[in-house]
Amino acid sequence: MRTQVGIVGAGPAGLLLSHLLHLRGIESVVLDNRSRAEIEATIRAGVLEQGTVDILNATGLGERMAREGFQHHGIELRFGGRGHRIDFPSLTGGKSVMVYAQHEVLKDLIKARLDASGRVLFEVSHVSVYDLDTASPRIRFRTQEGALEELACDSIAGCDGTNGVCRPSIPSGVLTVYEKTYPFGWLGILCNAPPSSSELIYALHDSGFALVSTRSPDIQRLYLQVDPADRLENWSDDRIWTEFRRRLATLDGWAPKEGSIFSKVIVGMRSFVVEPMQYGRLYLAGDCAHVVPPTGAKGLNLAVADVWVLAEAFAQFYASGNAESLDAYSSVALRRVWKAERFSWWMTSMLHRFPGGDEFQYRMQLAELDYVTSSSAAATALAENYVGLPMG
Ligand code: PHB
Repeated sequence: MRTQVGIVGAGPAGLLLSHLLHLRGIESVVLDNRSRAEIEATIRAGVLEQGTVDILNATGLGERMAREGFQHHGIELRFGGRGHRIDFPSLTGGKSVMVYAQHEVLKDLIKARLDASGRVLFEVSHVSVYDLDTASPRIRFRTQEGALEELACDSIAGCDGTNGVCRPSIPSGVLTVYEKTYPFGWLGILCNAPPSSSELIYALHDSGFALVSTRSPDIQRLYLQVDPADRLENWSDDRIWTEFRRRLATLDGWAPKEGSIFSKVIVGMRSFVVEPMQYGRLYLAGDCAHVVPPTGAKGLNLAVADVWVLAEAFAQFYASGNAESLDAYSSVALRRVWKAERFSWWMTSMLHRFPGGDEFQYRMQLAELDYVTSSSAAATALAENYVGLPMG
């Protein structure tokens, strides 16, 4: 088997890259060890930046999003028992975000690839990548039927997430890792209840962070800051709702809409970047190259920005034989990655209670929230990052 770009991973980065390459007349094959059903059921965040929405619309992927997504023109920051709205359009020249779950984006992408006869191989196993520093890198794998296959490529895109095989296949000493683990995690729930609020609420309370998000007119997504080592069995539905009521309470008596909880998870939070995002003819994109804590809602959007830049570089390479843009991919992508890392770290640091009781730091966080919600300069800085910095 041969192709121009072999893509490891059928998440948002891999599938969107394949779609963008197809629109530019470049062939690719996407491989994933998961089934289509598993990929389409992966529950992640759901906030799409303006630039992500624009790309999905411009490349024929926006139809269901326009019908089923929710455009949000702001968020609320809640602290000291009061809510403060950050209005995106007035602060960013008309931009906003779309709340449309990641797995819905994945369904649209998979359908678009398969409708265009794109090659997406699900449930492969034993994937490995070879000859990365040659002009003909290879991917070996077993098909769903168990046959051993080799895919010869001009280049490989590593889009296989934090625990994928591509990044660890780069010889040691090539990559520099930058990493920070936060001393808290999020307990996320899904429940059967209408939205408590028409916009997302990010709240800081003496007992910790809480976030109110949404999935549909009758499903809410909410998160609570918890100890990352805490266990779900310690969190009964009653305890969860008591904590949401406490952390989200306002002086004028606001309370969240409650309903039956049908999903609970605890996730840790970290920041992670590798440099460079390239080795030979292997290009890394999305979570395998960088991870952000979810507070800034940036993960999926960063993957989109990476492959937007990478697809354009491949287009130039195949049009002219000139590899200049491909060689610049890592440095171009990393400039944006680091700014999103900064924003996610900043939102996370401002909005969580750090264990250890450093009261001075807590006062700094409250002063920062007060500043961000009372200065249009500071509010603009938050808004322009939240709706998304330029893609490339
Ligand atoms: C979500 O809806 O899952 C969500 C929203 C905003 C975030 C993180 C997660 O910052």
